[in-house]
Amino acid sequence: MLEQLESTYTQALAELETITHSDALHDWERRYLGKKGAVTLALRATGQLPKDERAAFGKRANEIKNALADAFTGREEMIRQHELAQSLEEGEIDVTLPGRRVPTGGLHPATQTLRRIYAIWAEMGFQVYRSRDVEDDDTNFTLLNIPPHHPARDMWDTFHTTTPGVILRTHTSPGQIRAMHDYGENGTAPIRVILPGMCYRYEQLSARSEIQFNQVEGLAVGRHIHMTDLKGTIAEFARRMFGAEKRVRFRGSYFPFTEPSIEVDVECMICGGDGCPVCKYTGWVEIAGAGMVHPVVLQNGGYDPTEWSGFAFGMGPERMAMNVNGIKDIRYFWQNDLRFLEQF
Ligand code: PHE
Repeated sequence: MLEQLESTYTQALAELETITHSDALHDWERRYLGKKGAVTLALRATGQLPKDERAAFGKRANEIKNALADAFTGREEMIRQHELAQSLEEGEIDVTLPGRRVPTGGLHPATQTLRRIYAIWAEMGFQVYRSRDVEDDDTNFTLLNIPPHHPARDMWDTFHTTTPGVILRTHTSPGQIRAMHDYGENGTAPIRVILPGMCYRYEQLSARSEIQFNQVEGLAVGRHIHMTDLKGTIAEFARRMFGAEKRVRFRGSYFPFTEPSIEVDVECMICGGDGCPVCKYTGWVEIAGAGMVHPVVLQNGGYDPTEWSGFAFGMGPERMAMNVNGIKDIRYFWQNDLRFLEQF
């Protein structure tokens, strides 16, 4: 057995001398020093030898194992140097090449639009107030002059939670009530805020409606606020948002929490007012619902409606982004398809 071991040793050393690649080197290591390698197996077989031969064999086998391990390390280093030199020579680096571009994220188109909207309203003296996404039924409906079972509740298909009376807000209007209580100083202080945020409706998805979308609510409460203030303010917003040349129109409408109520359209920016699928061939795109705050709502916010008045509006930033950028389907916004998002 010792003889066989010695010849394995000689053979291993001879083979090692001829190896010039790390692949072959590791194959060699596996064959001689690996778990099932020749030297390892020989060492393991020591126990089967007659007692008086064991010590000498074991000692020699260990010596050989260590010698081969050293030889391996030496060869490995040599090959490594060699391969490094070779790769440097082959792949000369052109330091004048431009660097590889690191992909960077960008802001979501809805976020970009929201930020524009905040900036414009901030210039016009409106503060951002954040109200909650999870609302109670009272604030979302009843305090906004929509009592339980009132048919107007049909205007908003609601997501309910498992807790009775706790819902996802269907619009940002409940923020009006909260802002009046938080900022109104018991009905003694004027207010000028916008309330942006996500709203949720249990609706059929379509190119024009999503089950979640942003709204930017606006609320102004003061002593002498009139319908003309609302019209002028919205018109000024539209001028800054869409440009002075874009026409804006106001239509009479109905909301339980405003009286009178209007809806605001801006000229379709895709077709310039000529009519196209995005504006359903009307030439106009709706951007907001608005109106004078209903006396009942002022009262629910702690204000005396005989002394105070106000206006409110709720705009759809996704609709605006669609109009400005020619996006034909609102569902793109939350699909997170990079091919869509990367265009902004
Ligand atoms: N909350 C209304 C909606 O979701 C919009 C609106 C806000 C209308 C404020 C009037 C005043 O449709």
